[in-house]
Order: sequence, then C-alpha cells, then structure tokens
Amino acid sequence: MRLFHWSKSNAVFLPVIDDEHQAIFQATGELQNALHSRAPQFQVHEILHRLITSTEDHFAHEEKLMRGARYLAFDWHRQQHQTARKRLKQYAPLIEEGDREAGIELVEFLTRWLDDHTTVTDRMMGAHLRNQERAQIR
Ligand SMILES: [Fe+2]
Repeated sequence: MRLFHWSKSNAVFLPVIDDEHQAIFQATGELQNALHSRAPQFQVHEILHRLITSTEDHFAHEEKLMRGARYLAFDWHRQQHQTARKRLKQYAPLIEEGDREAGIELVEFLTRWLDDHTTVTDRMMGAHLRNQERAQIR
C-alpha cells in the first residue's frame, strides 16, 4: 500500500493554503492508515470528522479569496470543490456505520482528487492571487 502524503509537487506557493492542504493530506493519510490497520471505530470517526471539518473550512477559505480577487475561473474551481463536497457527504454516513470498504473508496477518490486539484486548479489560483498581491504594491 502506497501511503498518501503531501509533496512539493502539490505546493501552490501560498503558505496559508499550503498549510491547510497539508492538514487535509495528513488526515486523508491517517484515515487510509486507520482503515488498513483496522483501527477502532472511534478512531476512524475522529479522523473522518477532522478531515471533513478541515476540508469544509479550507474550501470556504479558498472560495472567499477567489471571490475577493474576482478570479475568472471561480465557477470552474468551485465546481471541483462541489464534487469533493458531494463525495464526502455521500460516504461519511456509510463510514460512520462501520462500512470499511466505503472508507477505502473515499480515500481512493480523495487521493486522486487532491493530487489533480492541487497540482493544476489550486496552483492556477495561487498564481493569480500572488500576481494580484504584487500588482497592489505601489
Ligand atoms: Fe481548491
């Protein structure tokens, strides 16, 4: 099993956003670990809820930054967040009921989604926000 982790290729070069991403990657890796090692259900719950909360807060944060910057690709970016939100909502109750397979499926979805989303979509957003910040310095 390849353990899921954040690497430099996932960097978007906005320190606060990179920190939030690392926390989400960390929670996803912990969930993967807990499911594969058949950790007690209370532990799976704790990790799952930390993952959901950090993801929701993070998406809201990025969307606020993009709105503030009048980012043109906002709808496209938000649509990707919506896909992940939908999957989390769909899988969370199953995992809470103890469905380990559902947990593994969610981890598989997230590992692909997070890698695709951070390396392209978030990196483009990062470039836009950094550029805007530079343009405001007089
Ligand atoms: Fe994003």
